[in-house]
Amino acid sequence: MHYLVAAGICLAYAGLLAASSPAFASDDALRNKLARKDCVRGTFKDYYLQGNGGDPVSDYKGRVFKLSQDYPVQLPPKETYPWEKIAFKNGGPVDSEAYLQALLQYGLEGNIDVDFYVQDNKLRKWYGMPWMDWNTEVATDWPGTDGREFVHGLTHEFDSAGNTFGEAQAEFVDTWAQAYVNDRYAFSVGQVYCDPDDPKPAALNPDPTALNAMPDGSYVIKLLFSTVNETELPTVKGAFEWDADIYANKSPPFRNAGPFSRFERKLGKVRLIQIDLQVRDNRSTTGWLLGTFGYDGNAKGDTPWKRMVPLGIQWGNNPTVTFAETCSSPNGPCDYDKLTEQWINRQAVKDLATPPLSFNHLGFGGRLAGPVDNPKSSCMGCHQTAGFPSVPILAEFSPNAGVLKLDAQRHPEAAQTLRMMYFGNVPGGAVFSDSQLYSADYSLQLSMGLQNFVSLRCAKDASPPRPSLCEQLSAWTQAQKQGIGAVSIFGAPGPDGAPLKQP
Ligand code: HEC
Repeated sequence: MHYLVAAGICLAYAGLLAASSPAFASDDALRNKLARKDCVRGTFKDYYLQGNGGDPVSDYKGRVFKLSQDYPVQLPPKETYPWEKIAFKNGGPVDSEAYLQALLQYGLEGNIDVDFYVQDNKLRKWYGMPWMDWNTEVATDWPGTDGREFVHGLTHEFDSAGNTFGEAQAEFVDTWAQAYVNDRYAFSVGQVYCDPDDPKPAALNPDPTALNAMPDGSYVIKLLFSTVNETELPTVKGAFEWDADIYANKSPPFRNAGPFSRFERKLGKVRLIQIDLQVRDNRSTTGWLLGTFGYDGNAKGDTPWKRMVPLGIQWGNNPTVTFAETCSSPNGPCDYDKLTEQWINRQAVKDLATPPLSFNHLGFGGRLAGPVDNPKSSCMGCHQTAGFPSVPILAEFSPNAGVLKLDAQRHPEAAQTLRMMYFGNVPGGAVFSDSQLYSADYSLQLSMGLQNFVSLRCAKDASPPRPSLCEQLSAWTQAQKQGIGAVSIFGAPGPDGAPLKQP
């Protein structure tokens, strides 16, 4: 799916299997005391090429997306969240389905009424992530072209080739999505971007002595829409629809061959097929829970929202349970009883993944992943890698994947150890890899937004002032290169037998 390619070469996540909760602790009072209050707000662009060719045509009558970016400078107090009533045992909820439903209700409350123009929500304030207007999600895409469209601020994500959802889907369909964060999450984002021209990733937690973690109760809801229609995927009938300014050309290979004009956009329909939820709950094994709902037009319910079926939720990756332990062959069947750090709705798996449908939502070895996610991944597996700089979110995406013999089918043993690092339980706020400078605490949008920021603001011809992240990035690049350079000269004697100096 997301081909995040970055220079993460030496992965060595600390191997902390089960995080204990005290590591998360920075209480609200301390966060508030240390938080910066002099923040500048309102400068982030709303959508792709805003004011520069990406605006709606003059006869467009609809509403135009504005990023909700008035992030609070004081950490808003915790509400009595509905999911907190559900007891935990061994780092996960006792009643996972009830927990998931509680998460969904909270995310929809007041937001459906305002069509997810969330700054208008009458019950509580919601916000969005900066720097997704100019977004490069897939390395082969032309820079920036995945950025937010102007109707609802959806970004372009995964292109699903024919046959991904079912036999009747012949052509590419693509996913367009948007995430909305609650006030406690927004406080953290607002600290990072307190100075919008000089983001500080370490300020996610204003307390420098603790992990770079968001406060308990931080919450995100992400709506995933697809261009797929009922003929291609029968269960999409009656789905919730939005207009969106999407690509005129469906085929990514065609678009990516260029020229730039092939990324032309025009208004079209997208349908809500998946809702992802993510919550910081300090009772969880990792500090986070990630869960998902899928749309089923055959489900009971008088609105499309009520026909969203809970698919599953994860609070950990079961880092020691290998593929071979859960699946009897490369193509299954998989017995996921051993995966105790998640809950899967088995009936939904059956209903949505039986031919001619293949709306499969399980990932590596039976771990939870979304239907529009890579089946070699899992929700928590990808998200635990979030940080700055971005690193590959899957073993397959590492720059040297070609020589690693990662093919789990032909090399199950050889592939296993490296791959299992991608299914660790990184404690929220800790870095995944020694090639990262900062953790983004499971927020891949934060990590992506920062990446988008540096790609424009640290460019050679960027106008001043130069953000401090640019120097850090240069020093980081230098250090990575030196580390690799040392490997090829290490032990080779120079003049008089002295160590060879690195170039
Ligand atoms: C293959 C990797 C991958 C998998 C698997 C994955 N995600 Fe994500 N997710 C991403 C990326 C990359 C982003 C940021 C880009 C975006 O939102 O457009 C993201 C964004 C999100 C967001 C928005 C907030 C954030 O952290 O950036 C939520 C919520 C989310 N995912 C939940 C889930 C859930 C729930 C699952 C499992 C059902 C899941 N994800 C599976 C890669 C993945």
